[in-house]
Amino acid sequence: MDLKHEPVAVVTGSTTGIGFETSLAFAQNGYRTFATMRDLSKAEQIKKIVVREHLPLKLVQMDVDECGSVKEAIKKIFEEEERIDILINNAGYGLFGALEDLAIEDIKKQFETNFFGAIRTIQQVLPIMRSQRSGNIVNISSMSGFIGFPVSSIYVSSKFALEGMSESLSYEVQPYGINIILIEPGVINTNFVENIVLPINTREISSSLLASPPSPHSSSSPLSSTKTSTIYSNSDDLKRNKNKDKGKETTKYSDIVKRFLFNYYPAMSTAPDPKKVALAILESIQMQPKHSFNRRHNLFRYPVGQDAKLYAEAKKKISDSELHSLVADSTLLMDN
Ligand SMILES: NC(=O)c1ccc[n+]([C@@H]2O[C@H](COP(=O)([O-])OP(=O)(O)OC[C@H]3O[C@@H](n4cnc5c(N)ncnc54)[C@H](OP(=O)(O)O)[C@@H]3O)[C@@H](O)[C@H]2O)c1
Repeated sequence: MDLKHEPVAVVTGSTTGIGFETSLAFAQNGYRTFATMRDLSKAEQIKKIVVREHLPLKLVQMDVDECGSVKEAIKKIFEEEERIDILINNAGYGLFGALEDLAIEDIKKQFETNFFGAIRTIQQVLPIMRSQRSGNIVNISSMSGFIGFPVSSIYVSSKFALEGMSESLSYEVQPYGINIILIEPGVINTNFVENIVLPINTREISSSLLASPPSPHSSSSPLSSTKTSTIYSNSDDLKRNKNKDKGKETTKYSDIVKRFLFNYYPAMSTAPDPKKVALAILESIQMQPKHSFNRRHNLFRYPVGQDAKLYAEAKKKISDSELHSLVADSTLLMDN
């Protein structure tokens, strides 16, 4: 098959989860796909599938936290293909914990990846898309991009920022035929939980939930069926570990943290497969007309999963106080 004229897609954070499945889905549908990742040694699994299925997928190193790395990667792809049609900003992770407990360095890191990471790639592809007078920029937001959840203030604000930036950007790029697409998944079963960052004074709660015996109302420990194995250390850690006693302090917000994690972790194990998000992204692109500069509207939002769709509807239809109760009832209830 001659793929020379097929669109070129670039995906960030392709080692696992949504980025991995999205890279494969685009390549399987004929797009000339560049699966980017910060550590190419994590590419073994995707490489095997590419070889087995003869996919038009290439690997490129890109750490979205690093301007030089992003610039180099986009330059390399453009030199090879002379165009970029689709950019999928997927790289991201979750910093959770009570706001008071979070170190500013960790908060900045969260924005470095989830928000500034997307800006870095967008700034590099815009000159290319503008001169083509066409392009689709897909930002992987979350239902946390339009609803505030407990114990998630910084993750939520990084996704709200991504949504706000996308909304404003859509006006600037519309004359150049560039669409902005926001994908808003609910809870999806990926390595996301494995990669969560928590403040040290919250981690014992997380570990004890892992080890806790089954409650009379559930068939297993709340976390036993999730993939949770490691929780990153963070900069707070390094400081606090110098003082072991201080490291043993427990958050003053232990009740809400416990309730939230008790509900959140098991939700992950029964959540939809990331292939569902990959398919939604693919469909969002396939539904776009090629040139949109004559249309009045070039910003598109797609909630993915029952939970995200429910919250998206609720946000439009119910009052703030009703929404607050809905979120509290869905995320903080616990058998005592
Ligand atoms: N899973 C969910 O419930 C859910 C729900 C809504 C939205 N999302 C969003 O979906 C996106 C993908 O998450 P996921 O669920 O697929 O989680 P995941 O399996 O943990 O994948 C995250 C990906 O991001 C990459 N990444 C992190 N920092 C990076 C950096 N600085 N540069 C380049 N790549 C980086 C990771 O690479 P490494 O392997 O090198 O760490 C990995 O490939 C995120 O933006 C997340 O916020 C997830």
